[in-house]
Amino acid sequence: MTRQILVTSALPYANGHIHIGHLVEYIQTDIWVRFQKLRGHQCLYVCADDTHGTAIMIRARKEGRSEEAVIADMRGAHVRDFGGFQIEFDNYGSTNSPENQALCNEIWASIRKAGLVKEKDVAQLFDPVAGTFLADRFVRGNCPKCGAEDQPGDNCSVCGAAYTPADLKNPKSTLSGAVPEIRTAEHLFIELEQLHDFLNEWTQDGSHLQPEIANYLKGHFLGEPLRDWDVSRPAPYFGFEIPDKKGHYWYVWFDAPIGYMASTHEWCKRNNQNLDDWWSSKSSAEIHHFIGKDITYFHTLFWPGMLKTAGCNLPTKVHIHGFLTVSGEKMSKSKGTFVMGRTYLNHLPSAALRYYYASKLGTGLDDIDLNLDEFVSRFNSDLVGKVVNLASRSAGFLAGQTLSDSYPDDGGLFAAAAEKGELIAEHFENCNYNAATREIMALADKANKFVDDRQPWVIRKDPTKAGELRDVCSITLNLFRQIVTYLAPILPSLAKQTEELLNRPITSWSDAQTPLTGTLVSPFTHLMKRIETKQVEAMIEESKEQMASEQGAAEPVAPAAETPAVSFHPADSWKDAGDALANEPLTTECTIDDFVKIDLRVARIIEASHVPSANKLLQLTLSLGGGETRNVFAGIKAAYKPEDLVGRLVICVANLKPRQMKFGLSQGMVCASGSGGPEVFLLSPDTGSVPGQRVH
Ligand code: MSP
Ligand code: ZN
Repeated sequence: MTRQILVTSALPYANGHIHIGHLVEYIQTDIWVRFQKLRGHQCLYVCADDTHGTAIMIRARKEGRSEEAVIADMRGAHVRDFGGFQIEFDNYGSTNSPENQALCNEIWASIRKAGLVKEKDVAQLFDPVAGTFLADRFVRGNCPKCGAEDQPGDNCSVCGAAYTPADLKNPKSTLSGAVPEIRTAEHLFIELEQLHDFLNEWTQDGSHLQPEIANYLKGHFLGEPLRDWDVSRPAPYFGFEIPDKKGHYWYVWFDAPIGYMASTHEWCKRNNQNLDDWWSSKSSAEIHHFIGKDITYFHTLFWPGMLKTAGCNLPTKVHIHGFLTVSGEKMSKSKGTFVMGRTYLNHLPSAALRYYYASKLGTGLDDIDLNLDEFVSRFNSDLVGKVVNLASRSAGFLAGQTLSDSYPDDGGLFAAAAEKGELIAEHFENCNYNAATREIMALADKANKFVDDRQPWVIRKDPTKAGELRDVCSITLNLFRQIVTYLAPILPSLAKQTEELLNRPITSWSDAQTPLTGTLVSPFTHLMKRIETKQVEAMIEESKEQMASEQGAAEPVAPAAETPAVSFHPADSWKDAGDALANEPLTTECTIDDFVKIDLRVARIIEASHVPSANKLLQLTLSLGGGETRNVFAGIKAAYKPEDLVGRLVICVANLKPRQMKFGLSQGMVCASGSGGPEVFLLSPDTGSVPGQRVH
């Protein structure tokens, strides 16, 4: 039976980049989704950026730009980073979308109607200099219990006491250094206790949660009345204004999970589908949420409670994973183990992390340890040494020929491995990837033993044994393809390469059930390269440097006590004319996905010369650093002299399809504004940027 499955990962905060801790989750989820698709189910993987809240607001102020600008940038970076790890969403939305706002309104109306909302006064710390209420982490002071200095607003790192920011002695705002005032404002609460019976049943029925989680909820929350949940914040707050409570906004955790629905809605609109088919209580779709253990409470109590009240489909399962440690310790900025996804990709292939995490992930909630030595050796010994080795030891001998016309006798190897298919599938289904990879590697061991026994490199020397060579290599390549099919959810790019090598797509789990015969074998190209410890070291080194410079840059730009930390609004003093815009009106809207297709880079002009036969063009050689150059013909002759250009930095379109011109090959474009002729103005980056940097 084809299942209809909706899968989500937690929505990453738009307030920071994706790091290797996050990737435990996104890789785990992506593997599960790819597995379901390979099994022939209808499976939709949606996610979005989580954009609201105080942290974004404060960041935007610090950077002197709008929240929208901050979240647009981060979204581009997130999408690119996920792409780099081959995490493939069917839709990637944003909680700051009209779809999300409309759904929040609807769900809120149901919660109001059900009589779950009540108002209470809340005393909160307010920074009079920055003009904002302070979330816990923006207040520090002395612990009310033990007196330890410089403690955060929620709990003491010395004695462990938990308290509220208002309890701190000598509190200071980390934004401005000002002494916060206590201000009282009305907040809206959801009376969760009214849903106690439902939540008891839903969490404890054995099907929705891992048993450890069900027990934890029972022991910590469900044994007593559930506390009211504070879901509103007074202005200023970056979020959606509550329609029936002007000047108040939904707390970020109210609209964030609704973002799962909003992202599904975006997908539905694009594909002419109906949101109710996924999210109405009548839908037969399964909903699977993948989250880390830190956000359990939101997903197992608040969220099912909201869905129930609004008459929506409830999660089929919330899959909860542990946290990443690196070599047994918490990720650390100073040790360089707080590695951003992008930094990882600068040094190592995504397949290595996907495979390593898969080999570590089981059904439990234990933390996952990234042991850097084991990470290198596991990739090299399992994937390069066992799996890819099967192809390297056979494909070359059959390149340009076809696999045997009927599958030769392999002593039952293929059939035995085909029979393992259902067991391996069960491991994937249960998120027990660790067990799945162990089974698959056991198959690779057997296949390698076959090759060792039959020694195709020896057979090859005897011209009378061409038939035997073809049979041995056909068997080896089929065993290889079978293993690659089982690994396809983890290693999509290896599957792609195998499709090309053997000229047959891998589209279904059942591709591991029948051997290929008679198909052409393409010339062998290396599928995977060993990784070296020095690549890992370089990654750690880069992380250290990055964190050091970032911490420098992120040093609170301590505003002089009397200057409020608000941005400067110069709009009144700049009265720009509208001619340029009128002459060239704005074009149609594009999505961020359209935008990121264009790879804009900082480049240095290292040579510039006239093109004898062209009266508008200069020929430029652009350097992107590291010896990478582009030859470009730019129509800027009337505006610039070649000698004035050499050495300066410009912005170029680095992935433009090369075009043959009569003067030579043009491999890109430099960016400029202006109407043409002498009215051309090259764009240049601010001081500090270097060739090769991408423009976001
Ligand atoms: N924005 C919220 C989620 C809202 S869902 C409606 C959030 N964002 S997050 O960026 O902090 O985390 C996103 C996911 O990554 C969470 O499930 C979180 O548990 C997971 N991880 C973040 N750091 C992690 C590790 N170091 N290790 C493993 N998972 C981690 O929470
Ligand atoms: Zn203390």
